[in-house]
Amino acid sequence: MTSPELIKDQIESLRRELERHNHSYYVLNAPTISDREFDEMMATLSRLEAEHPEFDDPLSPTHRVGSDLTKGFEQVPHIYPMLSLANTYSIEEVDDYVRRCRDGLMGEEITFVGEMKFDGTSISLIYEGGRLVRAVTRGDGEKGDVVTENVKTIPGIPLRLHGTGWPDRFEIRGEIVMPWKSFDRLNAEREEQGEPLFANPRNAASGTLKMQNPAEVSRRGLDAYFYYLLGENLPADTHYDNMLEARKWGFKVSDVMTRLHTLDEVNDFINHWDHARSELPVATDGLVFKIDSLRQQLNLGFTSKTPRWAIAYKFQAERALTKLEFVSFEVGRSGIITPVANLDPVLLSGTIVKRASLHNEDIIRQLDIHEHDMVYVEKGGEIIPKITGVDTAARQADSQPVKFVSVCPACNTPLVRVEGEAAWVCPNKYGCPPQITGRVEHFVGRRMMDIDGIGEEICEVLFATGLVRDIADIYTLTREKLMTLERFGERSADRIMEGIARSLTVPFERVLYALSIPYVGETVAKKLARATGSLDRLMEMTEEQLTAIDDIGPAIARSIREYFDSPVNRDIIARLREAGVQMEVSATRAAETTNRLNGASIVISGTFVHHSRDQYKELIELNGGKSVGSISKKTDYVLAGANMGPAKLEKASKLGIPIIDEDQFLAMIGDSAE
Ligand code: IVH
Repeated sequence: MTSPELIKDQIESLRRELERHNHSYYVLNAPTISDREFDEMMATLSRLEAEHPEFDDPLSPTHRVGSDLTKGFEQVPHIYPMLSLANTYSIEEVDDYVRRCRDGLMGEEITFVGEMKFDGTSISLIYEGGRLVRAVTRGDGEKGDVVTENVKTIPGIPLRLHGTGWPDRFEIRGEIVMPWKSFDRLNAEREEQGEPLFANPRNAASGTLKMQNPAEVSRRGLDAYFYYLLGENLPADTHYDNMLEARKWGFKVSDVMTRLHTLDEVNDFINHWDHARSELPVATDGLVFKIDSLRQQLNLGFTSKTPRWAIAYKFQAERALTKLEFVSFEVGRSGIITPVANLDPVLLSGTIVKRASLHNEDIIRQLDIHEHDMVYVEKGGEIIPKITGVDTAARQADSQPVKFVSVCPACNTPLVRVEGEAAWVCPNKYGCPPQITGRVEHFVGRRMMDIDGIGEEICEVLFATGLVRDIADIYTLTREKLMTLERFGERSADRIMEGIARSLTVPFERVLYALSIPYVGETVAKKLARATGSLDRLMEMTEEQLTAIDDIGPAIARSIREYFDSPVNRDIIARLREAGVQMEVSATRAAETTNRLNGASIVISGTFVHHSRDQYKELIELNGGKSVGSISKKTDYVLAGANMGPAKLEKASKLGIPIIDEDQFLAMIGDSAE
C-alpha cells in the first residue's frame, strides 16, 4: 500500500515540476519538455488529486487556466465560457476518440468535420443587428479583455455583415493570426531596429492584439479565421453548414474545413495535412476534429474544461537529435553575452542546423546541459532553432555541466549581471572589440547613417588595422587609407567615400539613433530630436527634464544621462561635430513642423496622387495632428483618396465626420502639392 505521505509528496513534486515547465514555456518561451509529456504529467496530477481530495490546493496548476488578461483593457464576462480542447498526439489516439464518441452516442453514425488548428490567439466577436459590437480575448476563460478597436483594424473581419439570414444576436469565435508574410516582415524590421524578435507568430499575434495603438496594430498585418458559431436561432443544425453560412456573411472560414464520414477519411486527412501544412500561409500546430451534428454535440456535452464533441490532434514538432560540439559565447553591441550551441550539423524541416541559441544562463541550468551531450533541437514554428532537451542516457560518465563564462570571451573583462535580468554583460564598453565593431556596424546601417559598402567583415578589418576605433573615426577615412586594405579596389573605396560624404546630410534624428545609446531606438530618437531640437540641448538635460518628454521613462533618461556623462562619448561627439554631422533639427525641417492641425485625429483611407500614405502620416504628425487607424466618434477628419472602402465611407458619414481629399488637406497645412 502506498502511504498517504508518499502520495502527498508525489502530488507536491508534480505540482512543482509542472509550474517550472509552465514558466519555461510561457515566460521564457523555451519549453523544457514536449507538450505531450506535459499533458501526461498534468493528467497524472489531476487523477491523484481526484483520488485524494484531502490534498487539494487552490493554487495547484490543475486549477490554473491560462490567462491573457492585461492591465489597461476593460474586462467583460463571456456569455459562454471559452474552453480549450483535449489534445491527442497520434492517429491511434484519434481513432480511440472516434470510437468513444460512437459509444457515447449509442452506436449512431457520426460525421466529423476536420479543421486546421490555427496557432494564434482566440477571439470572441459579438454581433447585434448585423454589426460588430464587441471583440473579447479569451482571458481566463470566464472573462476577457475588450479589444474591439484593435480587432476592427483587421481587414478580414466584417464590421457589418453581408448577405442575409444572420441571427439578430450571436457570437462567433475564431483565431487572430499573424500570417508568415507579416511575421517575417515585422521581425526583419525589428532586427534592423535592434528590438527583440518575436519567437513565433502566436506571440506576435497576441502581443499585437494587446497594443494600445490601433494604428500600429493595423500596420502589422493581422488576419483572422473563424471556426465556431454560437447562439440561439443558428441557421443550420450542423456545424459545417453554419460555417458555410458564416462565410457568406463575410467571415473568413478556412478552405481546409472538410466533412469526414469514416475513420479512413479521418486518417487520410491527418496524413495529408501532416505534410501539406508547411504550404499554408499561417502557422498551425495541429488539426481539430468536431462532431458535425449540433444535436449530437448537445448530447455529448462538455467536461469542466473541454467539449466532449471535439478534439485536437497535435502535429509532432519537428525534432532532431544531434551532438553538442561546444558552446560559444557571443558579445553584442550592447555587451550582452549570448550562449550559442554549436552542433554537429543536422537536417531539420528542410534546412541544415548548425547553431542554436541557448538564450541565457538560466536556460542552460534548467536544461542541465553537459559538454558533448546528445541534444534535441526543435524548430516547430520558431524562427531560431532551439535546444529543448538532453538525452541523458547517452551522456558520458565524466562529462561536465556546461559552465557560463565569467569573463568576456573577447576581452577577458569580468562579466556583470544585469539587475533583475538573466543576462550577463561585459562592462568594457569602450575597449571590447565586438562591442565597438557592433556599434560601427549599427552606425553605418541603412536606417542610420546609410553608408554603403561597410558590412560586418569590413568593420572588423577596419578595427583590426586600427583605421576605425570608434564611430567618429569613420570620418578620418580617406580613399588612400581604404586602398591599403586587402582586396580593396578604387571602386569599393569610392563607394564608401561617397557614402561618408552623403551621410553628412542625414537628419539629426537618425544621427541620434546611430549613436547606439542604450534604449534609444528609432522611435525614441525621433521623439528626442523633436522635443529638444539639438544635441547640445539634449546633452544638457537632467534626468528629470528628460522624463518630462512624452514616452521617455526613467530607464531611458538614466541611460541617456550616462551616455553623455562619459568623457569617451563626449570626445566622439566633438569629433562627429567637427566632421560636419547634423547635430540639430535642420532649419527647413524645423520649419516643416507646425501646429496647424492642433491635435486633430485623422484617419487615412484609400490611395493618393501627391504623396504616399506614409508621407501623409508623417505630414499629419509634423503638423501637430494624430494619424489613427480606424474611424470612431473621436475622429476629426477622414483623409480620403481614391478607392476608399465603402464601409469606412458609410461609417464616416454616419458619424458626421468631415471627409477631405488630399488637396484640401494640403491646403489645411499650408502646403501645395508642388
Ligand atoms: S474550437 C470549445 N477550432 O485552440 C472549443 N479551436 O486548444 C472551441 N483553435 O482556444 C475551440 N484552431 O484558440 C477550435 N479550428 C479550431 C481551432 C481552435 C485553433 C484554438 C482555440 C482554442 C484552442 C484550444
